[in-house]
Amino acid sequence: MNPSPARAPDRYAVAGHPVEHSQSPFIHAAFAAQTGQALVYERLLCPLDGFAATVRAFAASGAKGCNVTVPFKFEAAALAADLSERAQLAGAANTLRFDARGWQGDNTDGAGLVNDIQRNAHRPLAGQRVLLLGAGGASAGVLGSLIAARPARLRVVNRSADKALALAARHQAWADAHGVQLSAGALDDCGGTHDLLINGTSASLAGAGVPVPASQGRVLAEGGLALDMMYGPAAQGFLDWAGEQAGPGGVLRDGLGMLVEQAAEAFLFWRGLRPDTAPVLAALRQRLAGA
Ligand code: ATR
Repeated sequence: MNPSPARAPDRYAVAGHPVEHSQSPFIHAAFAAQTGQALVYERLLCPLDGFAATVRAFAASGAKGCNVTVPFKFEAAALAADLSERAQLAGAANTLRFDARGWQGDNTDGAGLVNDIQRNAHRPLAGQRVLLLGAGGASAGVLGSLIAARPARLRVVNRSADKALALAARHQAWADAHGVQLSAGALDDCGGTHDLLINGTSASLAGAGVPVPASQGRVLAEGGLALDMMYGPAAQGFLDWAGEQAGPGGVLRDGLGMLVEQAAEAFLFWRGLRPDTAPVLAALRQRLAGA
């Protein structure tokens, strides 16, 4: 009797526009090697008007799922047959699993952020004062998970205050259910000093630097934690500025830890097991430093 042929590895990808700089193939290859899972992970460049068609073709070819990145996370949520509660709150999906019922959508960005703060930086969120800068896609993706970690107070501020107010309003019932005092306003109304400061704006990409006006004075307590969801040079200006407020006891984090943690949550969603993120984060830092 012939031995049965080896099963082809399961296929996944990151779908976006652009995708060439995505670190997700490196991260998921490292998770697969570490856990002994037979999978391959590709880049899926989608035309701006062709996300659905490209991902449908990928699924029809036998692929098992994909991550979704800019600018398609909202479209992915709209097209999913089922959405996790956190993806519904975000109004966006960054992870899709394909099965006979259609696309199952999840959003792992918020869990990635929370895990990076609590597990990697060893800082609690429960009972803390948190300030979230920005009310675009990045902030919307994490607000539900931040609330679920039960800070005492969470304030969302944005250049256009109405967007922050709308985002907070959408999360009000969720905040009430978790006993979190949620508020929102403009960037020039940060509401005093906080224990954790999270930058979800793209101000640095726009060349605008730190989004908090100087008029706000101190917004981060001494010894506090500041995290920019970006990484590399795009995060540096904000973290340098926040470091002056936090002082020597402060913790400064770019978005690389969050990136690896959200990937680990996606891996869990697809494969049912959680990889060890620490060695992968270290390897990714080394890789980017050498790039
Ligand atoms: P993303 O998906 O990366 O979050 P987005 O949805 O376009 O992108 O959101 C960008 C965020 O950065 C928004 O909160 C935006 O503020 P507005 O809603 O007022 O546009 C914020 N942002 C962009 N440039 C900024 C700047 N120069 N100063 C302050 N905030 C800025």
